[in-house]
Amino acid sequence: LGKMIHYQESVESTQKIAHQLANEGVQEGTLVVAEEQVSGKGRLMRSWHSPKFSGIWMSLILRPKIPLHEAPQLTLLAAVAVVQAIEDITDLQPQIKWPNDILINRKKVTGILTEMQAESDRIHSVIIGIGMNINQQIEDFPEDLQEKASSLFIESGETVSRSKVIQRVLVRLENLYDLYLQEGFMPIKGLWESYAISLGQVIKASTVNDTIVGKALGITDAGVLLLEDKKGTVHSIYSADIEIQ
Ligand code: BTN
Repeated sequence: LGKMIHYQESVESTQKIAHQLANEGVQEGTLVVAEEQVSGKGRLMRSWHSPKFSGIWMSLILRPKIPLHEAPQLTLLAAVAVVQAIEDITDLQPQIKWPNDILINRKKVTGILTEMQAESDRIHSVIIGIGMNINQQIEDFPEDLQEKASSLFIESGETVSRSKVIQRVLVRLENLYDLYLQEGFMPIKGLWESYAISLGQVIKASTVNDTIVGKALGITDAGVLLLEDKKGTVHSIYSADIEIQ
């Protein structure tokens, strides 16, 4: 992965470029990296603050031969790769908040946005967008994020080389992706659970239509979160915002 790298100083969103390249048929593993995104995209239609030089804003194109409904597994795989890469480089202990926010000391340092292109029920490409806060200081974040967001610099007290982080993320992604293609999701699921912050705890899941409070039982083989409410009903959560109560 990452044998072909498209580097640009300033882009709207690396996701957009990766989608275009995927349509043009570039090889699997092609990576798009930018110094700055002027309209970075987050999950659930949010924007993603992506200022110049202080973070890693990148999108990776994969073309796995897997059924469409298994694609969310790749987003969990990417979260594990990012955690491992941070552990390789720093003494920090990142945790994952479902589905794929990476937190350190309960503050978000990385977000992952996975998008798919499919033809009928065949996957054409999966675009994994990774946004990592690396060398920002707390005042570099917009005020409304300062409580919730952090960077590797803030948490470790040391400036971190962004190219080294990209390299480690790619190595970890490649190892996990090989494992996934050979052995399936089970080993990845085990790793994901070992880093997960919210399992066994009472959490609040806000979906588009609904808010469900319940105990996080675990994830299914497709990466869906299972929540048990007070009445004992188990809900399958496909996409939501999670708050730990
Ligand atoms: C989230 O909401 O947590 C996901 C954030 C994903 C941000 C990354 S930065 C690189 C890629 N390009 C984008 O526009 N978004 C993703």
